[in-house]
Amino acid sequence: MLIDTYINLSYLVGAVAFVWGLRLLSSPDTARKGNILAGIGMGIAIVATLVAPLTGADNNYLWIFGGFVIGGFAGWIAAKKIQMTAMPQMVSVFNGLGGACATVLAMAELIKYYDGMMQMSLGQLSIVLVTLLIGAVSFTGSMLAFGKLDGFIKDKHVILPGHTIVNLVLLIAVLVLAVILIVQGQTAGIVMAVIFLVLALIYGFSFVAPIGGADMPVVISLLNSFTGLSAAAAGLIYGNQIMLVGGILVGAAGTILTVLMCEAMNRSLMNVIIGGFGSAGASSSATDGDQVAKVATITDASIQMFYANSVMFVPGYGLAVAQAQKVLKELDDLLENNGVDVKYAIHPVAGRMPGHMNVLLAEADVPYPKLLDLDDANAALKDTDTVVIVGANDVVNPAALDDPGSPIYGMPVLEVWNAKNVIVLKRSMSPGYAGIQNPLFFHDKNRMLFGDAKDSIQQLVQEVKDM
Ligand code: TAP
Repeated sequence: MLIDTYINLSYLVGAVAFVWGLRLLSSPDTARKGNILAGIGMGIAIVATLVAPLTGADNNYLWIFGGFVIGGFAGWIAAKKIQMTAMPQMVSVFNGLGGACATVLAMAELIKYYDGMMQMSLGQLSIVLVTLLIGAVSFTGSMLAFGKLDGFIKDKHVILPGHTIVNLVLLIAVLVLAVILIVQGQTAGIVMAVIFLVLALIYGFSFVAPIGGADMPVVISLLNSFTGLSAAAAGLIYGNQIMLVGGILVGAAGTILTVLMCEAMNRSLMNVIIGGFGSAGASSSATDGDQVAKVATITDASIQMFYANSVMFVPGYGLAVAQAQKVLKELDDLLENNGVDVKYAIHPVAGRMPGHMNVLLAEADVPYPKLLDLDDANAALKDTDTVVIVGANDVVNPAALDDPGSPIYGMPVLEVWNAKNVIVLKRSMSPGYAGIQNPLFFHDKNRMLFGDAKDSIQQLVQEVKDM
């Protein structure tokens, strides 16, 4: 039929838009275009699916558009209102809902199957069960990740003693039940399928429970790849090519991102999944043995920056918390007007999500060429007069290079101590994500400027203006 040709052609255009959009997303300059292009691809795919003639069922447009309007409105509002610091939570919820969709689709197929309304081959039944399992794990896992990241669920509330064993037992139970369902075919009945669903939902929750709250971005990326796989499996169930392509792209992108994040933190995925990272509890005292962290005043810090030839800002998670990016740009402009060469050192895992610092600085219109990646920044640091660390901690911790007992040993870091002077802006001596003390704070070249990063930088701006 001619309509089928048009639909397949639309799916092809949609798939090309996804791939091209992903390609554009790899650079901050083109990311916005990439997002729009992939969105257009998805729009084309949805319209093509809506006009596709269905066999054996009616296109129920009232339900479809009802869902479309409610979902579209909720998504629009959420995306408009979300703070940058809460972005990982939102991704987690959206991802969980994707998993829930795949679960509902699989369950709908199973209901028809056990009612005798349709037949399935062994292969088809296996695909439906895989879709249900991965979708359900992704749903409850993502919802728990959301709760942990948002802080209303604490790690200690959901971790059981011997949790790894509990997870292993649950996983075996789910897999055994899946085999029984496949072997028994239609005689197994819907009750057993519902037990399978409930177990899969519990397993998803339990899988994420022992993982430290701060490790959630890695887990969300992993769950994202699960959702992609469940969508791809659902694409197989319905013979829908665009669902298959989209699912595979999400699955692959999520897997690559998970691997890259683990590599940049120098940790294995297993180490993240077993959990407990960052819970060691570090001293938050301004002294370490007989070492004392030296403190700078706003005047000291502003003089050091104003009369420097070069200043390197090192943004970290605290910049996002304080929302200090715009006032930082104002300070940058004032210094540049005084002839200071200002650059930014960007560590690949600074913040809590990939590209976090790039997004924040782009929001403040910091020109992209001013941003140096890890290697370029380390090369430039040797010739830098003053480094100003804005709410970063782990990414400038020398223990990563010289303390084999440190949990972050082996992680590449910004070697800020090679510059002539270092100033750290943070509120206290509290540790960062890894939960460990930072010897940099006691380094001879370093001065601590305590306070919320935005407040401190606002005062620095004022002081520099008055010079
Ligand atoms: P962290 O090591 O987490 O340190 C952030 C520091 O910001 C804290 O020590 C905190 O100290 C300070 N801070 C918080 N709020 C502040 C505010 N309002 N004003 C000033 N300072 C504030 O951050 P980082 O150096 O960016 O390192 C990121 C860490 O997250 C790494 O360990 C990385 O492995 C991990 N991680 C990253 C990702 C990605 S993809 N980026 C994903 C998962 C995990 P005070 O409380 O004393 O102010």
